[in-house]
Order: sequence, then C-alpha cells, then structure tokens
Amino acid sequence: MYDHLKDTIKGMAKAQHATLINIRRHLHMHPELSFHEFKTAKFIAQTLNAHNIDCQEGVAKTGLVALIKGRNPDKATVALRADIDALPIDEANNVPYKSQNVGVMHACGHDVHTASLIGVAQLLEGLKEAFEGTVKLIFQPAEEKNPGGALSMIQEGVLECPRPMSIMGQHVDPSIPVGQVGFVQGTMLGSSDEIYMTVKGKEGHAASPQHAVDPILIASHIIVALQQLVSRSCNPTVPSVLSLCQISAGATTNFIPETVKIAGTFRTVDERWREEAHQKMIKIACGVADAMGGRCELEINRGYPCLSNDSALTQRNIEAARAFLGTAQVVDVELRMWAEDFAYYAQKVPACFYYLGVRNNEQGVNAHIHTPTFNVDEAALELGSGLMAWLALKELGVRRRISNQ
Ligand code: NI
Repeated sequence: MYDHLKDTIKGMAKAQHATLINIRRHLHMHPELSFHEFKTAKFIAQTLNAHNIDCQEGVAKTGLVALIKGRNPDKATVALRADIDALPIDEANNVPYKSQNVGVMHACGHDVHTASLIGVAQLLEGLKEAFEGTVKLIFQPAEEKNPGGALSMIQEGVLECPRPMSIMGQHVDPSIPVGQVGFVQGTMLGSSDEIYMTVKGKEGHAASPQHAVDPILIASHIIVALQQLVSRSCNPTVPSVLSLCQISAGATTNFIPETVKIAGTFRTVDERWREEAHQKMIKIACGVADAMGGRCELEINRGYPCLSNDSALTQRNIEAARAFLGTAQVVDVELRMWAEDFAYYAQKVPACFYYLGVRNNEQGVNAHIHTPTFNVDEAALELGSGLMAWLALKELGVRRRISNQ
C-alpha cells in the first residue's frame, strides 16, 4: 500500500531539504530549556500555519499537536512525536548558527527532531489527497528533565480523540553514519532512577575515633555492599546497572565529619526488578549504616520507565525503511541504558522509536550527544522527514488493510 508514493516522498523530501536546514538552524540558534520552550513553540506554530496547517498550542504548557487529515480521516490514526527542548550546556561549536542563548544548547538533536517533524507535516499536507487516515504530530516539551513532558501530554489527552493505533519517534545518533537508520527490536532503552543517600554518623577528632561514628567508613561499606545488588540479586539475564557518581564529605585531614552525601543512578529494563531493587537498596544501605552505629537516608527520584518497542510495528518499520533506503542502510542497534520519556507513550500504544544517523567523519561530525561540541550532518534532515513520512503512510496502509478485513 502506498508503494507508488515512495519516489514522490523522496522527491518532496529533497525539494524541502534547504528549507528544513533553515528551520533547524533557527531552532539551533534559539534553544530553550525544558518547559520554557515558548519561542520554540511559537516558531513551530507559525511555520505550520504558514503551510495552512492548524495546530493546538499550549498542550502540557509548551507542547503542540497538529493533525494532517487525508481522505477518510477517521479510518485510522498514526502518531509521530518530536521533542523540542534543549540542554543547559554552553555551545563550543564555531558555526554561523551557534546558539544565541548563552548556556543553552540543542546538544541532543531535538532541533533535528523538531525540524524533521515540521518537514513531515509539510510533506504530508501536500499528499493528503493521496492517503487515507490521519497523522497526528506531537511536538513535546521537556524530554530532558524528569518528570518529562510526555506524561503531561498524555494526561492532557494527546493519545485520545483521535486515538493513534501506533506511535513512532526518532532520535539522532552520532554513532550511526548519516544516511542510515537504526532499529532495536523489543527493549530499547532502560529505566532511570536517581539515587540520593545521606549517611550520618557522629563527628569527632580524627585522633579519637572511639568517640565518633565515622560516616565515611560507613559510606564506603555501603558503596561496596550496594554493588552486590546487580551481581547477586538480579537475574543475570536482566540488564541492570548501579553507578554511584557523586560523593562528598569532610573538610580537613583531621576531623571526622558528621555527614556523607552520595548520589548516583540505577537503570534496568524490567519494571518488577526495578521495584524490588529499590527496596533492596534501601535495606542494604540502612542495614549497613545501622550495624555500624550510624544512619542512612536513601531517596529515590523515579525517572522514566524502560522503553520497549512493539515487535510487529518495529518489524513493519524495518521492512518499510529497507524499501525506502536499501537494506544496507538499515542497521540493528543494541539495547542501551539511556532513558527517554517516549517510553510513556509506548506503555499506552504500540510504539517504535528509532535512531537517525547523523555522523560524518569527513566533516568531523562525531561528538557525543550532551557535549558542547555535538553537531549533526544536516543531510540527515532529508531522511529525518522523508523516511518518517513514509513510515507513517505505510503504517496507515497496514491499519487500513486490517480495518477492512
Ligand atoms: Ni534527546
């Protein structure tokens, strides 16, 4: 279904490529932090409106939703999501479109996701006589900051009226060369929880430890003991990681302080084990502190759940992407312990999240996301919009066939 539109879509994506580069550069120059994407949202709305596409603004504060209706719009709906926020990072790239907002940077490619989705909107608007069903475009705020914007958007009804039968999203990946996309079958990203511990002892002079309760020693035992969580309590077949990355205590060489603070992150891909691990962590940390005469308070700031792709939808997307790009350009990617609030949509609707390659070694474009030198090969925008529009139409075609049976 819709195979005859493949070359048309490719041609349209090519034709709008220069416009999308300008859109991406505008977004890149004017990045805004999570839930403060006011100008970004205005810009998205204006750009869509200029192409006669209406959108609902102010969803989850700074999010937007637009519907592209083909013929028989009630037949089926597919949703596409882009995140629109930037990071508190000072851009170190010396490019003409460098961030004008000091200390804020699109260092995670959300400018590319947003520009691509605008491109999809323009492209599908031009094709709306050629397909049946509706494509729902979700421009989501605050992916970068827990609790994220996805939950609020869902609470405000973004997955209702019309309810999408599936949802897709993409993320730039600087480990994949531009021109390629990467898919993960099944579990794609981990859950992510922040762990904060305060270990309390009793302060005293270093020369008289018998009168003190040394929280640094207690903290050391807790750190070692917690490493048995993954190695001894977790099913070895379930990916899981605890990394304690911050520790602070004391001010001098000869005085035992009262408090040690430790912070880190716990990630896994199994929601049941996630709950169990939280309880075990509390038990171990508090038990060790108690046995050594101190106290430990452990606070867990729950982050995003793990992200699982729907296997049937992902398989259909892989096949559609191969048809669009050629088999060699569609690569398999392994599970990673990153986190994404796209996971919340995936809990409600069959979902597929995939990677868009942006690496170009000749251009020296290969910095990691979330770094001050992150950048993309903008050639990726052609695929970012064209492939996504194609996947949406292919999915609508499948859904139409199912509903006709
Ligand atoms: Ni991101």
